[in-house]
Amino acid sequence: MRLPVDRWNPEAEIIARAARALREGRLVAFPTETVYGLGADGLDEAAVRAIYRAKGRPSDNPLILHLADVAGAERVAFVDDRARRLMDLFWPGPLTLVLPARCGVVPAVTRGGLETVALRMPSHPVALALIEAAGLPVAAPSANRSGRPSPTEAEAVEEDLGEAVAIILDGGSTDVGVESTVVDATGPSLLLLRPGALPLERIEETEGVVDLPRKGEGRRSPGTRYRHYAPDRPLLLWDETLQWESLQGAVGYIGIEAPSRPVAVEVRFRTVEDYARGLFSALRHLERSGVDLIVAQWPRREGLGLALRDRLLRASGRG
Ligand code: TXA
Ligand code: MG
Repeated sequence: MRLPVDRWNPEAEIIARAARALREGRLVAFPTETVYGLGADGLDEAAVRAIYRAKGRPSDNPLILHLADVAGAERVAFVDDRARRLMDLFWPGPLTLVLPARCGVVPAVTRGGLETVALRMPSHPVALALIEAAGLPVAAPSANRSGRPSPTEAEAVEEDLGEAVAIILDGGSTDVGVESTVVDATGPSLLLLRPGALPLERIEETEGVVDLPRKGEGRRSPGTRYRHYAPDRPLLLWDETLQWESLQGAVGYIGIEAPSRPVAVEVRFRTVEDYARGLFSALRHLERSGVDLIVAQWPRREGLGLALRDRLLRASGRG
């Protein structure tokens, strides 16, 4: 059931109803500042299994626990000084920290069998109100079927998950449009597991250089092993190797600059922030519009451009 909520001032009655559903072990989809999440009680094994089932997600791909404060983080993980500093700087907001888990508290299914757990405190008023009202850590992956573009509006959640969710809180479009930045903070240096909504430059301002995982390296995010964000037709990147003249069939285009030749359907953005905000819904829109292939402009490697490049690369099947 889809329930509209006031984004800035969520109605207490609706939030209480959704929080009750979570406490009863059911699934609730909700908006965050990044994308919509598919939430369940993160400490309830059966409820967490229902998330994996609904998404068709491999069980070794762990979930993020969403919290309403730092105290909530300390109940499920070991939080050292560096992690506390990062939380003070960037929470609430789109930074997910991977920390050593309190394995007696957080079930192995939530952790995908690892001894670490990913934590984040979202800044979206609806997400915060829900987590507070439920009074538990809310496990929530993006609310898409596994491998599909993440949902940035409630309609996309309904399209992918419909019946599997008890309640979809509809708070309109999300703000950033790409998922949180995931950083492994278990080792001596910080490691970027997934570029995302918090630009890497912001973290490096206070923490110095954050490592990037090398190909084949052990300390990686399990999620990066799977094909992701894929529209159901070929996606090509517009870089110096793309040969516009040789493209066959109806072309859909997304990007900031005008495409090099006329295309069947075009989605244009003004800035890299707009591009990030609109990418996933543009991919879904282009699928519906019946184009044969999609060309996407390859953004520069700075700010949200880093996250965009990662999502586009994976949507193209090359990531
Ligand atoms: O913005 C977001 O992060 C959204 C909203 C709903 O909060 N959530 C989200 O969740 O994108 P999901 O499940 O789609 O992506 C979580 C990523 C995956 O790549 C997963 O492998 C990684 O975080 N992850 C989770 N726990 C981990 C852990 N213990 N160690 C390493 N990576 C982990
Ligand atoms: Mg996801």
